[in-house]
Amino acid sequence: MKILVVHGPNLNLLGEREPEKYGKRTLEDINAAIKKLAGELGTEVECFQSNCEGELVTKIQEVKQDFDGILINPAAYTHTSVAIRDAILAVTKPCVEVHLSNLYTREEFRHHSYIAPVSVGQISGFGLDSYLLGLKALVNHLKS
Ligand code: DQA
Repeated sequence: MKILVVHGPNLNLLGEREPEKYGKRTLEDINAAIKKLAGELGTEVECFQSNCEGELVTKIQEVKQDFDGILINPAAYTHTSVAIRDAILAVTKPCVEVHLSNLYTREEFRHHSYIAPVSVGQISGFGLDSYLLGLKALVNHLKS
């Protein structure tokens, strides 16, 4: 089983970016924790980050041939991107959406996600654990 982990814009700045909202862990720390859990679950993961919507779409398109599912934090594109939503629909593989912060305790514009309706589920508000819970849920979903 192989899962694509996708991080959207500005997540490359984790650790220094608004640490009171997103924590002090860097993206490298998060990817290392995801890879450790993936090993324990017997799953392969590839982690990809981009600040560009088109690059995210192009990477997601690879899922059709090369991956079994997607774990995604679309970051700000959550609230704006029909293109990322369409890419997820196009590859016809299960997707789990995750967020470090709780979207629903924040500004109203963050309450709407274009990605949630095309995902198996959404996990929001648990920091690093959002990714780890999301990975577990996706693996269980793929196994069942
Ligand atoms: C985020 C929440 C988004 O609203 C925001 O634009 C981000 C990070 C999160 O992980 O909490 O960049 O996706």
